[in-house]
Amino acid sequence: MRDLAYLTRLHREPSPLLLELEQHGLREGIPIVDRAAGRFLSVLVHCMQANRIMELGTAYGYSTLWMALALPPAGRIWSIDPDMERTEIAVSYFRRAGVEERIEIINQPALEVLEWFPQRNLDIVFIDALKHQYEDYLEAVIPLLKRSGIVVVDNLLWSGRAAETPSASDDESTKAIRAFNKAFLNHPDLDATIVPIGDGIGIGARVD
Ligand SMILES: C[S@@+](CC[C@H](N)C(=O)[O-])C[C@H]1O[C@@H](n2cnc3c(N)ncnc32)[C@H](O)[C@@H]1O
Repeated sequence: MRDLAYLTRLHREPSPLLLELEQHGLREGIPIVDRAAGRFLSVLVHCMQANRIMELGTAYGYSTLWMALALPPAGRIWSIDPDMERTEIAVSYFRRAGVEERIEIINQPALEVLEWFPQRNLDIVFIDALKHQYEDYLEAVIPLLKRSGIVVVDNLLWSGRAAETPSASDDESTKAIRAFNKAFLNHPDLDATIVPIGDGIGIGARVD
């Protein structure tokens, strides 16, 4: 905990708009990625010079905005979330940040639209939607990644619940995250790891 507090103090503050979005999410109980996870996504986008990004789970656009602010000028993000009320708020932040042209919101359930996208075309896919669908998302998005493209996944520690001894009273999301973590780390098409950033971030590079 002391290390985390030290690192939090050490980093520069995010932009005022990201800070406002953090507060907005907190106030309205909208689950958003941890600030450290947002910063990690930003670094990944910069170091890969990622041009084509897909996100599953937009909500108020906090993680989207971290990635959009790191995109090169011609870069594009497709962000999928069926909740139009949430994504309208996201778009208002994208507009204020001057990045709305780079982001296309798709208001449908992810598994209904992923097959529309061309294969071997994406640099990054960020998964942060329904936990019980994580394994299905993974299988559907790997074909969309370029070789060496990466899939990044949030909540793999699930607030400590993933590491607890399994019990009959575990909820469906906890069971799904545990099963996902095994499948992810052993996936034959990925070189994958899980790191304790925020609520646990998985990062897997397509190797075939
Ligand atoms: C944890 S929130 C996303 C937070 C966002 N990535 C951030 O950090 O700002 C999960 C979102 O997934 C959305 N969602 C629910 N079902 C979905 C589905 N079938 N496909 C895509 N997104 C879905 C919810 O509406 C919710 O806004």
